[in-house]
Amino acid sequence: MKIAVVVGARPQFIKLAPVSRALRSLPGITELLIHTGQHYDDSMSGVFFDELEIARPDINLSVNSGGHGAMTGLMMQKLEPVIQDHKPDALLVFGDTNSTLAGALVAAKLHIPVAHVEAGLRSFNRKMPEETNRVLTDHVSDLLFTTSSDAVENLRRENISDDKIFSVGDVMYDAALHFGERAKKKSRILDDIGVETKGFILATIHRAENTDAPHVLTKIVDGLEAVAKQHPVVLPLHPRTAARLKDMGRQFERVQTIDPVGYLDMVALESNAMLVATDSGGVQKEAYFYGVPCVTLRTETEWGELVESGWNRIVPPSDGDIEGNILDAIGTTGKPIEIYGDGTASQRIARILAARI
Ligand code: UD1
Ligand code: UDP
Repeated sequence: MKIAVVVGARPQFIKLAPVSRALRSLPGITELLIHTGQHYDDSMSGVFFDELEIARPDINLSVNSGGHGAMTGLMMQKLEPVIQDHKPDALLVFGDTNSTLAGALVAAKLHIPVAHVEAGLRSFNRKMPEETNRVLTDHVSDLLFTTSSDAVENLRRENISDDKIFSVGDVMYDAALHFGERAKKKSRILDDIGVETKGFILATIHRAENTDAPHVLTKIVDGLEAVAKQHPVVLPLHPRTAARLKDMGRQFERVQTIDPVGYLDMVALESNAMLVATDSGGVQKEAYFYGVPCVTLRTETEWGELVESGWNRIVPPSDGDIEGNILDAIGTTGKPIEIYGDGTASQRIARILAARI
């Protein structure tokens, strides 16, 4: 059985690592790994393949950047002949990026079963490009792998039938368990950047709704700069954010910006931070995995369980008190929650694929 796997953006490489290992461990499954090229800097792509021991992609479509239509369209145009040529038995996608949607649409139109990892997440904010991508992907998918019960409910509400939905847990939790120990042993990032365990705040910002409106980005920069007067703030700078700051002629001064880091260094930063402030989906959850309070700089989150249990608080950047909420959340904890599975989501996905395709 041949499974085509389409990835393209940083969080997908991390989700891919445990799933690819599980797929390749099953006899009779061949993985055809396709990289769309959406993320292409070594610090956004290559480092993850090396550190997480992911096989080199069989095919790279080299669609680097571009507007939504151009990027998604070109990915589809380049992917279709590859799929026609290789005739996989199923095509697997992750998350909610343009690469996810392009892969799902090409396979669906060629009548190849689509499997979606991290199905059913909803922010209910259709202005987010990710929301369009995930809703459309879910509705052309044949196998929908969910992380938590909220995701299952969301799919049922959209009339997706139960026999397509598989509650497997969260592959990011699998990755965190598998690579957490390695990060502890290998990462030297705290010494390299000169911060102390539990002595700094880790921030990441890259969502279009935060970076592409200058007044919103200005509020975020001002808020984090104000926090940095009281506690060191470390911010691995996403290339989208770097580009928008440059366009605005603005830069961080007190906040310590660093280049995007590899996963092992990121885990070391997250687990040793006193607080995480982010607009990333994955980073919100990882903060919880490491028992670190999180402030989410957005108007809503797909990971509502983290807010309800008190681990995460939402602060809308355009009109929220960023500085006050971050300072207030330091030292807080939430209630224990048993979600995201038991660290074997990837093996379950591989087994279900093998049995159902
Ligand atoms: C994409 C996803 C977003 C995800 C994020 C993870 C979509 C619509 N968005 O957003 O859901 O949370 O990835 O990080 O799919 N760039 C580089 N080098 C790179 C990659 C990007 O310089 O290796 C720059 C380019 O200027 C590019 C910009 O960043 O135009 C944005 O990249 P893009 O992939 O369009 O969106 P992200 O913001 O990364
Ligand atoms: N990440 C990383 N290095 C960084 C920033 C993030 O390895 O400099 C990892 C992070 O640990 C998480 C994933 O990238 O596993 C999240 O990706 P991102 O924030 O880019 O996207 P999102 O999850 O919001 O789609």
